[in-house]
Amino acid sequence: MSGNIKKIGVMTSGGDAPGMNAAIRSVVRTCAYHNIECIGIYRGYEGIIEGDFKSMNARSVKGIINKGGTVLKSARSKGFRTPEGRKVAYDQLINAGIDALVLIGGDGTFNGGLVFNKEFDFPIIGIPCTIDNDIYGTTHTIGFDTALNTVVECIDKIRDTASSHNRLFFVEVMGRDVGHIALNAGVGAGAEEILIPEENLGLDRLLDSLNKSKQSGKTSSIVVVAEGDKIGKNVFELKDYVEATLDEYDVRVSVLGHMQRGGPPSCFDRVLASRMGVKAVESLLEGKTNYMVGLINEQMNLTPIEQAVKGKSKIDRELLRVADIMST
Ligand code: F6P
Repeated sequence: MSGNIKKIGVMTSGGDAPGMNAAIRSVVRTCAYHNIECIGIYRGYEGIIEGDFKSMNARSVKGIINKGGTVLKSARSKGFRTPEGRKVAYDQLINAGIDALVLIGGDGTFNGGLVFNKEFDFPIIGIPCTIDNDIYGTTHTIGFDTALNTVVECIDKIRDTASSHNRLFFVEVMGRDVGHIALNAGVGAGAEEILIPEENLGLDRLLDSLNKSKQSGKTSSIVVVAEGDKIGKNVFELKDYVEATLDEYDVRVSVLGHMQRGGPPSCFDRVLASRMGVKAVESLLEGKTNYMVGLINEQMNLTPIEQAVKGKSKIDRELLRVADIMST
């Protein structure tokens, strides 16, 4: 292991996700295992600029593996977007004796880290953590599995009332501009239709599908809509449109919103976060920098962070076909 790294900073940034705390815990404990000091940085890049640091040891992270959110908080930082702000951040890290950073977050977090590394040659390793699962270089981002289970649980509840009142529900889910949450949770919850930005179903095909559901005897339906979907109407406009066009439908809307970001992480996300934290710290100790840790073929992998931010996560075409068949 490289002797150059004696003190590692860890921070969370961007939208929080279940499993962030498990990742923090793993980074801190791996540092302790290797007798490396670990500094917790509050509120991401803003916290670096302000020197909002806290020394952390193995005991500092007890009891957090099962907690949603992030004990290190997250914040957006206008200052870090400026060269002057990044210079202040660099000086703060040097003054604190921090030799490298583990960045827990999404593509925005990694983009910031890349700029910082280019300006100051400061070692960084990224851990992908967002419910969107929209990051190239890993099949799973931390938080995605938990969000799927939250959405499926919510849709199961909505289906009870939909079937009691013979209603159609449009359920909007998060995912920014990708449809991974909508597609996977839609299949998992048995949705009749799933609208995602990657596959524009179009209004006519939606109406046709809803008509077929009715004709096949379905008395209630769930349509899961990714927030980034491009059908051209938001869920409230879709409600009005369907009610005006298919008068036999009584329609309601449910926007799941930020509850998809909370709750205790699933076992899968806790294990993933624990594995990624070890890989991130040990990669730094091996002298590696500018990589993102990822899960590929069930194994921990490193992807150059420049590729991770430039790449696009792709929708699973086979799963798309499964969804189509399941809506028969
Ligand atoms: O990136 C995670 C995410 O939850 C997206 O799915 C969503 O569009 C966005 O963050 C919401 O951002 P904010 O928490 O700033 O409203």
